[in-house]
Amino acid sequence: MMSEFVTIHEMGPRDGLQNEPGAISVDDKVGLVNALADAGLRQIEVGSFVSPKWVPQMADTDKVTATLPALDGGQYDVLVPNMKGWEGFSRSSRQGTYGIAVFISASEGFSQANLNCSIAESVERLRPVVDVAVGAGVPVRGYVSCVTDCPFDGPVAPEAVADAAGVLRDSHDMPISLGDTIGKGTPDRIGAMLEAVLQAVPATNLAGHYHDTSGKALANIDVSLALGLRHFDSAVGGLGGCPYAPGAPGNVATEAVVAHLHAKGYQTGVDPERLRHAALLAQTIKRNARENAQT
Ligand code: HMG
Ligand code: MG
Repeated sequence: MMSEFVTIHEMGPRDGLQNEPGAISVDDKVGLVNALADAGLRQIEVGSFVSPKWVPQMADTDKVTATLPALDGGQYDVLVPNMKGWEGFSRSSRQGTYGIAVFISASEGFSQANLNCSIAESVERLRPVVDVAVGAGVPVRGYVSCVTDCPFDGPVAPEAVADAAGVLRDSHDMPISLGDTIGKGTPDRIGAMLEAVLQAVPATNLAGHYHDTSGKALANIDVSLALGLRHFDSAVGGLGGCPYAPGAPGNVATEAVVAHLHAKGYQTGVDPERLRHAALLAQTIKRNARENAQT
């Protein structure tokens, strides 16, 4: 019997680097993406067309996307929160295959902190972005943040996550990634959240995006696998954190997810040895950025 395939969506160049305070060159960002592609990753989030005042580290995403070679058999993604972001994206992201990702929160507190608006307003902002992307044939992915806990509002009800996922589904039949933004989820609570979301969206359209604050991300992946999910987000070297989510550390490390899935008999298409090379590069970039920030 052929073993089952699990898709890994690499977050390092975006969710990983967005929180780094020191300067990181376009060449370093492009080098990291190329190393990840070389390791076999075929879904790589490479930046964000967000306000440079809010996330300075992503301000040169247009230069990154303009420089990257086409990703053979895969797709690069960028975050796009509003029409201004779409304009930046459509001016600079012609090479290769690009998709965009829109993002909302299941909790009001994080929506205000991250997007400066309510959940309802964020949905109104993303609708024209989704429409124009779909019209242009650009794939759209959606994120729901704070699927178990919000750094401002505390625990989040599974129904609130299902509602948010339903709103994204109604705007377009898109794959939806479920973010445990601050990594407080436990297998029980992730399971309860997924049971609620699965009433609205099939497992084939869901991804788990688990930050690893409490060291539970792999266990949360296991409960998600048991409920039928075959798509997970992770960041090489465990890079990461969201600048607007205090206490959000790295995403679960891609190396750990790949090793875990291979041990369970799943295929990922990722070469662990080449991935190790990308992880070393990620750590060097991060160390240099921190040194730059101190000088
Ligand atoms: P705002 O200040 O309310 O926006 O921010 P505004 O429309 O009033 O505009 C203010 C200024 O920003 C204006 O410039 C705009 O032109 C500019 P000024 O006139 O002052 O010079 N601006 C932009 N510039 C470039 N690109 C844009 C853009 N939009 C406005 N797209 C806004 C609202 C949404 C822009 C802001 O809150 C923002 O950029 N937020 C993004 C924050 C972010 O990127 N967070 C991290 C990603 S989400 C995450 O990490 C979670 C995830 O990983 C899943 C999980 O773990 O849960 C996905
Ligand atoms: Mg995240």
